[in-house]
Amino acid sequence: MEQESRPVVYPGTFDPLTNGHVSLIRRGCEIFDRVIVAVANDTPKNPLFTIEERVRMAQEVFVDQPQVEVEPFSGLLVDYVERRGCRVILRGLRAVSDFEYELQLALMNRKLKRQVQTVFLMTDYQWLFISSTIVKNAAKLGGEVRGMVPDPVYREVRKKYGYPYPINS
Ligand code: COA
Repeated sequence: MEQESRPVVYPGTFDPLTNGHVSLIRRGCEIFDRVIVAVANDTPKNPLFTIEERVRMAQEVFVDQPQVEVEPFSGLLVDYVERRGCRVILRGLRAVSDFEYELQLALMNRKLKRQVQTVFLMTDYQWLFISSTIVKNAAKLGGEVRGMVPDPVYREVRKKYGYPYPINS
């Protein structure tokens, strides 16, 4: 009997994608058949990178991984999830402080569309301290963020803040 495909949507602003996100996506691939990285166009944040830049950087990172698809989305997340024929949203939890926001998001999404479930993975301990904002804050002041974000992102972050790439050139 042919098994049904089990895709999952991993949504976020990804401004920019960090190694914490990458780790979660890789682990998502071990559980689900396909991970759709959904880059939010409608976000209450004021992103440093345009939607096109955020999508392009993430696509570059996963170019060799056919199991991962990166796409922008607009409007309600649950509507996008349904359009993509999915029923599951993947989110990461770093610390207790994430829990309240994530609980609110998951319950709201469930209220909006009952058949859509959210599953959580704990972020790898290596990346517990990382967020897109903290990486940007450090990079803006010339801090070395290599190893916290994937290489294509590192290059773009340095360019955005007017620092040379590679760092010693
Ligand atoms: N490792 C490291 N950092 C992580 C992480 C991980 N595993 N998981 C999350 N983070 C960080 C991110 O870097 C980000 O940091 P920042 O706040 O400094 O930018 C933060 O945690 C959370 O960001 P992210 O995972 O990108 O999600 P988000 O909270 O920006 O995304 C959406 C929220 C896009 C899912 C939500 O706004 C949405 O669904 N929008 C669509 C509209 C909609 O449907 N609204 C109603 C929903 S209730």
